[in-house]
Amino acid sequence: MSPPKPTWLSPSHLPHSPFGLWRRGHGDIIRAAQVNQAKTFPLGESMKQVAEHSRGRALAVLLAAVAFLAAASCKQEVAKPPEEPVKWPAIAGYSAMTIPADNPMTRAKVELGRQLYYDQRLSGDGSRSCYSCHLVENGLTDGKPKAIGAYNVELPRSSPTLWNIGYHSQFYWDGRSGSLEAQAKAAWAGGNMGASGKDGRPGLEEICARLNRIPGYRKQFQEVFGAEASPDNVVKAIAAFERTIVADDSAWVRFRGGAANALSEAAQRGWKIFSEKAKCSNCHDGLLLTDQQYHNVGIGMKGKTPDVGRFKVTQSERDTGAFKTPTLMDIRKSAPYFHDGSVATLEEAVDLMLGGGLKNKYLDTANLKPVRLTRQERADLLEFLRSLDANYKVTPPQLPQ
Ligand code: HEC
Ligand code: HEC
Repeated sequence: MSPPKPTWLSPSHLPHSPFGLWRRGHGDIIRAAQVNQAKTFPLGESMKQVAEHSRGRALAVLLAAVAFLAAASCKQEVAKPPEEPVKWPAIAGYSAMTIPADNPMTRAKVELGRQLYYDQRLSGDGSRSCYSCHLVENGLTDGKPKAIGAYNVELPRSSPTLWNIGYHSQFYWDGRSGSLEAQAKAAWAGGNMGASGKDGRPGLEEICARLNRIPGYRKQFQEVFGAEASPDNVVKAIAAFERTIVADDSAWVRFRGGAANALSEAAQRGWKIFSEKAKCSNCHDGLLLTDQQYHNVGIGMKGKTPDVGRFKVTQSERDTGAFKTPTLMDIRKSAPYFHDGSVATLEEAVDLMLGGGLKNKYLDTANLKPVRLTRQERADLLEFLRSLDANYKVTPPQLPQ
């Protein structure tokens, strides 16, 4: 099979964004996001970055920078005052994303991470990048029931969406990974990317040695980390990029921000059904449309050896067959559905949930009850779900050769 062509959000059309993902005209959202995300660059890094991106900025900022420089009697470069916030997309009104202390967000790091995320040379057989299974056109999934990793190995689960993933604190359908950095390393060395270092396949060190032979990467790793590419540096850069995969521009965000007519009337009725009558929001809760908790809704419980999901992590019987509530952003595009890709259409997935899930011993009946809707109500609910698109343009990054 030929792997999907890598394409992704590009910075080029977003000249004012430090991270290349900002494009919209909803000033209120942007301002709220900036406040939300205020962080400062470590000074050592700020010197270089600011020289790049503050040209053409407001005079006030320049004056402040000059004053700051004079006071500090520093080098010739235009430096950013230390209080200048670092910005990347944010969900307005949601608590700020937690950034690990040992992996601060910097513009250059996100840019490097974006390239690595798209680069098939990271995989064991050169056939896969992270992006191969988390494609924009498929709502950041891959359109397959179960993912097919490097060396064409079928994986046990379906590729989940990555929208707003930086706001999560546990990763995978069962939450077995505690950080984006750890998850990226596991995906890279595991079946997804196949850089296992076993059976004659290249391992992470070998792949990093190859990256270090590519001048464009050597230069960027030196700039960002002051070191060569290493497994730890690579996953730090990828994780920093992933934290910018924020669906901050959508009809849903505008609607929740108070713009009622961002959704059609049918979709607004659907939202009411979603949150009140059908209580989907018991689990698909809040701005992210997920409570980030684990529930058994009955998927895949029929087979001889069901995927026990969260049980494997907690060893608690009640977590048997429980999986992390997925966000519903871009849900229209991310068929087939559920952790095993067992349901082909959105209509079927919704009917299954409206039916109260699939009966089994561990079904979360406290949160999920059967609901009867009229034809019109069901149509409205579907209209709501179909309006949860994230608005992004897609352009692949240029990879260093
Ligand atoms: C072959 C397809 C494939 C490739 C390549 C792949 N992934 Fe995934 N990804 C998956 C699947 C399948 C899962 C779910 C696995 C599970 O839950 O056990 C997943 C899960 C994730 C998650 C967790 C999402 C959540 O909701 O918790 C993140 C984050 C992620 N991948 C990022 C990456 C990164 C970064 C890379 C590159 C290093 C990558 N993926 C490469 C298929 C893929
Ligand atoms: C008890 C919590 C809970 C409730 C209530 C709930 N869901 Fe879900 N939903 C989940 C979980 C957990 C999954 C993933 C299950 C799996 O894959 O095993 C899911 C998956 C889905 C999916 C597939 C998502 C994907 O990415 O594959 C859709 C669509 C969906 N739910 C819609 C709804 C609708 C519509 C309602 C209300 C009628 C609803 N859900 C109510 C927990 C819930």
